[in-house]
Amino acid sequence: MRRTAIALLAVTAAGPAFAQAYPTKPITLIVPFAAGGPTDLLARILGERMSKELGQQIIVENVTGAAGTIAMTKLSRSTPDGYTIGIGHLGTNVVNGVIYTKLGFDLIGDLEPIARLPANPMLIVSSNQVPAKTLKELVAYLKANQVSGGTAGMGSGSHIGALAFNAATGATYQLVPYRGTGPAMQDLISNQIQVMVDQSSNSLPQAQGGKIRAYAVTSAKRSPAMPDIPTAAEAGYPMEVSIWNGLWAPKGTPKAIVDKLNAAAVAAMQDPAVRKRMEELGQDLPTVEEMKPAAFAAFQKAEFAKWKPIIEKAGVKIE
Ligand code: MLT
Repeated sequence: MRRTAIALLAVTAAGPAFAQAYPTKPITLIVPFAAGGPTDLLARILGERMSKELGQQIIVENVTGAAGTIAMTKLSRSTPDGYTIGIGHLGTNVVNGVIYTKLGFDLIGDLEPIARLPANPMLIVSSNQVPAKTLKELVAYLKANQVSGGTAGMGSGSHIGALAFNAATGATYQLVPYRGTGPAMQDLISNQIQVMVDQSSNSLPQAQGGKIRAYAVTSAKRSPAMPDIPTAAEAGYPMEVSIWNGLWAPKGTPKAIVDKLNAAAVAAMQDPAVRKRMEELGQDLPTVEEMKPAAFAAFQKAEFAKWKPIIEKAGVKIE
């Protein structure tokens, strides 16, 4: 009998007392990308604050590679006892389900949604050495030159951004895969790569610090965190893409534990210091209603229905 089934039996047999006492030891939070990137940053801010609510430490474990599919596979096979949870996003928990034909687990069927988390609009950025000051100039430069750009792998947020950028501008760049946009950012700053369409929480501080150049944000309206940066539409190329995040547990994790984790995530997101930090990074915060497990599960399914035809039309598939 599969290990998870035995573990599930054990957890179920333990019953409400188990959930009541939960948590009695530290919780592992699987992060599908490298340390220092946007998903890792969100996990650490949230994890630290949730641990205060839960009275146990939340330990971040970066499990990188294949645009998050390795991490989500590990999560789906973890013991459903509440001591292993994972953070993911539009790419890792929706788009990868369309791109990777042999995932070996079901992104919807084998994972339990815990809470919807903030979303990052994306910034179109370049190294300071790129001879362009506006988005139109950047597009012209990319059409006239062979340029390399960073992604965190096929299906990642920065890959989704590259696809949206190509669809809106007709310009492309050579995709250089990294284990996350944290390490990709280091290479962008040092001009090893020249462009990236990246989540605001990772790029905005670097752009504000003058280390890279930001051309536009991929949201419908300008962001209060970056009022000087035009929207892509204002800059001449309408495109809207935002990378929403979420928390999941292995399927079979008792509802009482999922609800406890959700309550801790909601409390963390209601903390004024946490909200201020996330808003400064340009993130859009979900409502308490939207964060609820059932609402988040319905949202994830709706996103699958929305993105499946888009990704299939783009012809991106990994056998
Ligand atoms: C990261 O944390 O590195 C990002 O979420 C990667 C991506 O999806 O672009």
